Formats: sequence, structure tokens, C-alpha cells
Amino acid sequence: MDILVTGGTGRLGRHVVPALRDRGHTVRVLSRRPGEGHRVGDLDRGAGIAAAVAGVDTVVHLASTSKDDARQTRALLDALEGSRAHLLYVSIVGVDRVPLGYYRSKLAAEEAIGASGVPHTIIRVTQFHDFVVSMFLAPQRHLPVTCVIPGTAQPIDLRDVAPRIVELVEAGPSGRVDDLAGPEIRTLAEFAAEWQRSLGKRRPIWTLRLPIGFVKGAAAGGLTTGRPGAGRITFAEFLAAEAER
Ligand SMILES: NC(=O)c1ccc[n+]([C@@H]2O[C@H](COP(=O)([O-])OP(=O)(O)OC[C@H]3O[C@@H](n4cnc5c(N)ncnc54)[C@H](OP(=O)(O)O)[C@@H]3O)[C@@H](O)[C@H]2O)c1
Repeated sequence: MDILVTGGTGRLGRHVVPALRDRGHTVRVLSRRPGEGHRVGDLDRGAGIAAAVAGVDTVVHLASTSKDDARQTRALLDALEGSRAHLLYVSIVGVDRVPLGYYRSKLAAEEAIGASGVPHTIIRVTQFHDFVVSMFLAPQRHLPVTCVIPGTAQPIDLRDVAPRIVELVEAGPSGRVDDLAGPEIRTLAEFAAEWQRSLGKRRPIWTLRLPIGFVKGAAAGGLTTGRPGAGRITFAEFLAAEAER
């Protein structure tokens, strides 16, 4: 198949693009920057999108911005109008339960895709291991304490997500499919302790019960599916692999 991957340079994209190529697909990547196999375009400005989608069978839409995911998705939908290409969109578990501007925008993107008439698949995924470490934990590496929010998470490894995306590409338009989540539901404090152990550190972990919607939503379990996920690689295994790199 001829496939365009938006966000092919991002965390998930860097796993999905080679996985699709390994299956024999022809893959182009939409990026704001030139590079090998790239089609230069910008979903915020609407530039280069029509040329990037021309002739593809499938668009794997992984590009994202905390500013306005829905607007980027609408730009893509406009470019796909009249084509029969399959649009596969990766959303996040909890977008309908955890109040956060970014999540509202992802929910609006899901709704726009559903209403568009474009043949599509939507899958919600929990936080990536990589994201939990790089966004929340690593920035605190040099602090004497590690701060977390209350509640549980169910992170998943990118090596478990990418093969599922390939499967969905090959299955064709399937609508909203089952959420994809990691193997363990644990408190964020437990994940932080695991991360400290992997670095050989032992520091106090402070759970900050901040009176904001996102924190309350996470505390109520909104970031998890509430049942064991299909992901097989645990957070400890991810940390061990990172330590060896
Ligand atoms: N991170 C998580 O834990 C997580 C969990 C569940 C679901 N998701 C979803 O999975 C998807 C991929 O997430 P990720 O963490 O891999 O993303 P990421 O690493 O933040 O990458 C974002 C990508 O978006 C592209 N992009 C941003 N603005 C763009 C624009 N104006 N035009 C074209 N491309 C643009 C960037 O490409 P260039 O810089 O090359 O232009 C980059 O490749 C997102 O939809 C995200 O919401 C993420």
C-alpha cells in the first residue's frame, strides 16, 4: 500500500514508519522539515497537504499539537475530501473523561473524522512509557523529591503500539476500535518509584492533590481503561531497555 504518515518524525511515528516499511508498504512522511522520504507540509497552515495525500491508500495521522489537534485534523480531512483513502487516527484513552484542553481538542478531532464520511479507524491509546518519563519524571531528575499527581496510569510501550497500528492499516477502515493500553494499572507514585530504582536513586515521592480538572480526572482513573491492556512490555522492562541504550 502507499501510505502517508503524518507525525512520522514523532515518538510513535519513528516506530510506525519502519514497521510499515518492513511489511513492504511504501511510506511517505508528512513533516514541516525536509528529510529522506518526507513530504514537506504544515497542518497548521494547510500548506503541502493536498500534494502529500495525493494517490495514497492510507493516511496514518499521528501529527499532533497541544494548541489545536482538531484544527490540524480538519485540514487533513479537507485535503482528503473526494478521495477513498483510509484515515487512521490515534487518540488518547480518557479524552472524553479527563478535562484538559488538549483532550477536548482530540475528542473534537475524533468527532470531525466520524462526521466526515472519510473511511476511517480511530484508536485510543494510553500514555507511552517514553512520554511518562520524558514529560513527567526526567525533568525532576535533579530534584531532591519527585512530585506526581494522584491516581493511576496504564502506560504502554511504543514497541506494543506500532504493531497494532500496522495491523489496523492492513485491516482497512474499522471505525472506533478497542482502546489499547499497557499491561499494568499502578499509581503514578509507584511508577515514579520504579523510575527512581532504575536510576539507583531513592527520594521522597510527593503526591500533589492539585484542585484542577486534569488531576481530579486522573485521580478518578480517567487515564486507564480499568482492565488489563493488550500491551505486554512493562514499565520496568522499558526502563531496563533504556538503561542499556
Ligand atoms: N505521547 C503519548 O503518550 C500518547 C499517548 C496516546 C496517544 N498519543 C497520540 O499519538 C499521536 C502521536 O503522539 P507522539 O507522542 O508520537 O507525538 P510527538 O512525538 O509529539 O510528535 C508530534 C508530531 O506532529 C508533527 N506535527 C506537529 N505539528 C505539525 C504541523 N503543523 N504540521 C505537520 N506536522 C506536525 C511533528 O512533525 P514535524 O516536527 O516533523 O513537523 C511530530 O512528528 C498523537 O496524536 C498523540 O495525541 C500520544
